[in-house]
Amino acid sequence: MPSQNLTLNSFALDVHRGLSHSPKSLPCKYFYDAQGDALFQQIMTLDEYYLTRCEREIFLTQKQHILDLFYGDRQPFTLVELGAGDGSKTKILLDYFLSQAVDFIYAPVDISENILTHLTETIQADLPNLTIAPIQGDYVHTDFLDHDLSRRKILLFLGSTIGNLSDQETADFLQNITRNLDPGDLIMLGFDLMKDPQIILKAYDDSQGVTRAFNLNLLERINRELEGDFQLDHFQHCPIYHPLTGEAQSYLVSTCTQTVTLNKLSQSYIFEAWEAIHMETSRKYSRKQIKELAEQHHFRVLHTFSDQQKYYVNSVWQKLAD
Ligand code: AVI
Repeated sequence: MPSQNLTLNSFALDVHRGLSHSPKSLPCKYFYDAQGDALFQQIMTLDEYYLTRCEREIFLTQKQHILDLFYGDRQPFTLVELGAGDGSKTKILLDYFLSQAVDFIYAPVDISENILTHLTETIQADLPNLTIAPIQGDYVHTDFLDHDLSRRKILLFLGSTIGNLSDQETADFLQNITRNLDPGDLIMLGFDLMKDPQIILKAYDDSQGVTRAFNLNLLERINRELEGDFQLDHFQHCPIYHPLTGEAQSYLVSTCTQTVTLNKLSQSYIFEAWEAIHMETSRKYSRKQIKELAEQHHFRVLHTFSDQQKYYVNSVWQKLAD
């Protein structure tokens, strides 16, 4: 790292680490600045990006069955949503639960105070009868739930976000979740399923180039925030899919030999022609792998909801006694 006495934020440190390493990589969590958020919203409306459509279909068509699982015994619960985003899909469930006079509290968890405030305001405007108790915290590493909560906890981790975690991060995340739950509590996870590789590839290489722009936006963000000189037209968006591991991976490939300088860090990084930066992994699961993952972490699969095309599932797990 630069020898000057600079206080660098974790973005700068992570970018430096990723670009100094071989192979080069950048953490996908940094996709989501204001521009990245807007591009992701656009991705979610694309025909080729089936994931959002499938999860919405599951909620719209199976909300009654979901409620039976969550509230069959009429026990009041706190619905904790991890990484809630704009909450648009969740609103389908919230709206339905309110219409059925369900006794529940909605607790979105996010590391960003800003996102939480915005989400709380917009959801409250749409659903004025909803009780919201936002929780600020990092749900992968820290305790984010108060163990004194008298209500049963039901966690939501939607949108196939689990697919963006590495195996180690998935294990850490599920261990942390386990610590934060009591036996009998539930979690509903969104998983994208393994399927025809061509369908998966198109989801990450859409015809309008929105996903390409989404990836390149991280280079733009580096230029802006770290005074970089990435030339975006010298990088090619290259998504691939490994049918053996179920990993869809996105790379930005340098089309020529070039040096990129980040003035804020007083650092330069050499790219050879056709050298790649790993940008993101979006893992796809088989049903068997989902069941194994639940069992490894002391959960029982209660039910797995699927869309009509069988592209995507929302799997509901119950925590077993230790
Ligand atoms: C947020 N996450 C589940 C998306 C995915 O499918 O991995 C992010 C995304 N990347 C490209 N398109 C969408």
